[in-house]
Amino acid sequence: MKGIKRIVVINTKGGCGKTTISTNLASYYASKGINTALFDYDPQGSSMRWLKLRSDQMSDIYGVVAHRNAAKSVTMSWQLRLPVETQRVIIDTPPGLKGPELREQLKGVDKIIIPVLPSPLDIFATADFIRDLLLDVKVRLNQTSIGIVANRVKKNTIAFQSLERFLSSLNIPVVARLRDSQNYLRATEEGMGVHELKGKNAYIDRLHWKQVVEWLDKN
Ligand SMILES: Nc1ncnc2c1ncn2[C@@H]1O[C@H](COP(=O)(O)OP(=O)(O)OP(=O)(O)O)[C@@H](O)[C@H]1O
Ligand SMILES: [Mg+2]
Repeated sequence: MKGIKRIVVINTKGGCGKTTISTNLASYYASKGINTALFDYDPQGSSMRWLKLRSDQMSDIYGVVAHRNAAKSVTMSWQLRLPVETQRVIIDTPPGLKGPELREQLKGVDKIIIPVLPSPLDIFATADFIRDLLLDVKVRLNQTSIGIVANRVKKNTIAFQSLERFLSSLNIPVVARLRDSQNYLRATEEGMGVHELKGKNAYIDRLHWKQVVEWLDKN
């Protein structure tokens, strides 16, 4: 398991893009020939539903339905059940995690991605979540890196300006700003990531994912 990197996509706020980011990330790595596993901790099972839509012609992703397992055994069991050649583990999480559950979910991860939407309620909830993460869960920043991914961004809107103000008040890098785009819906329908869509339409989205992966693959 040397060289394996575990990336969790997490925010207590529902609907901010955890599953979209997890599936796009998993397919990005897989399409580059990197052995990738996708863990779905959400009982709604959206990531696994997406994986089932993926055609056999596309690069393979090893899916793990993780929510059926007792939270306590997670750290051990993922190591036992993963194919030995796994290089990236992407972890999609449910909304509403806190306290011990949140702590358990963050055990042994290398990178934490926090998606946030440009809306006042999302910004409030995310601010609370980040505070919990740093104060209550006491994420050890020397061992784990946290990055924000702003999602469904529409530039030149008041909501975007508020989000930018919030983001600049944090001492956490903003890894990318994903635009609000139908490409994400089109890709999801096909079990793809946006970078796998044909044509020039997704050019900008591909650039965003390059930024995310560059940050993830740093150190
Ligand atoms: N950048 C985007 N552009 C357009 N639509 C998006 C984008 N990101 C996410 N969506 C859409 O927003 C909705 C919520 O996204 P998603 O399911 O990824 O959020 P989530 O955080 O996983 O939600 P939950 O907390 O319920 O698990 C979905 O319909 C998804 O297709
Ligand atoms: Mg989800």
